[in-house]
Amino acid sequence: MDIRILKPSDIPHVQQANITNLPENYFCKYYMYHALSWPQLSYVAVDVSRPPKSPYDPPKIVGYVLAKMEEEPTDGVQHGHITSLSVMRTHRRLGLAEKLMRQSQRAMAETFSASYVSLHVRVSNIAALKLYRDTLGFQVEKTEAKYYADGEDAFSMKMDLTDIRNAFQESLEDASAGAEDEGDEVGSAGKAEGKKKGAATGEKKRKVKVGRGLGVAGLVERNESKAT
Ligand code: ACO
Repeated sequence: MDIRILKPSDIPHVQQANITNLPENYFCKYYMYHALSWPQLSYVAVDVSRPPKSPYDPPKIVGYVLAKMEEEPTDGVQHGHITSLSVMRTHRRLGLAEKLMRQSQRAMAETFSASYVSLHVRVSNIAALKLYRDTLGFQVEKTEAKYYADGEDAFSMKMDLTDIRNAFQESLEDASAGAEDEGDEVGSAGKAEGKKKGAATGEKKRKVKVGRGLGVAGLVERNESKAT
């Protein structure tokens, strides 16, 4: 099984899976809107156990998560939202929904610095509720009466993503600190001073190679604005 980013060409197959598994269906352009606006957040599970017979064979999509960032969050907090999730009956209880959800949540936190992720689920949907609450750690925020077209109530659920977001930011900081240690500049104070000096004098710098085939070709900065 392959879990990968949803591509625009997957949309008809994802739409088919959605119609098969859920009563909440969407126009093709709504899927496209997700895929083009937040391409990092929606994923598909593809059954790759049988190789395609021809290059024109469609991918066998057996699960998907369609997700987005909330564009105008009412609470003013940057967060993601799961629009739709489903797995084909033939491929359930294999951990696919959990993997799809975790991939999307991680991308929300890492790419968009989302503080949390939200979703709606039917109060009668025991399988999905177990997945969200017991497996993933979502909490019920409130019940929204008659949320669905057929009059059923929804649980509005949320899961905090700050731990994932902070861990990612720390790993970025560690990586950039490591890269600075390997550079030529001695100390961050010297680096800042050098940058300030360059900006103040309006000096234009470009990197040039030195060291002529001695195997020590380093990179130095030369002032290009002065005549040589
Ligand atoms: N009964 C009880 N618990 C379940 C069930 C079930 N039928 N299915 C999943 N779980 C829980 C279990 O705790 C499971 O862990 P376990 O297998 O180790 O016990 C855990 O969730 C993870 O299960 P996955 O294998 O990852 O879930 P699966 O891939 O089977 O997909 C899903 C679950 C998406 C709910 C699937 O049943 C489905 O597609 N249902 C129809 C569509 C649907 O209801 N989608 C969610 C609507 S809400 C929304 O879209 C925002």
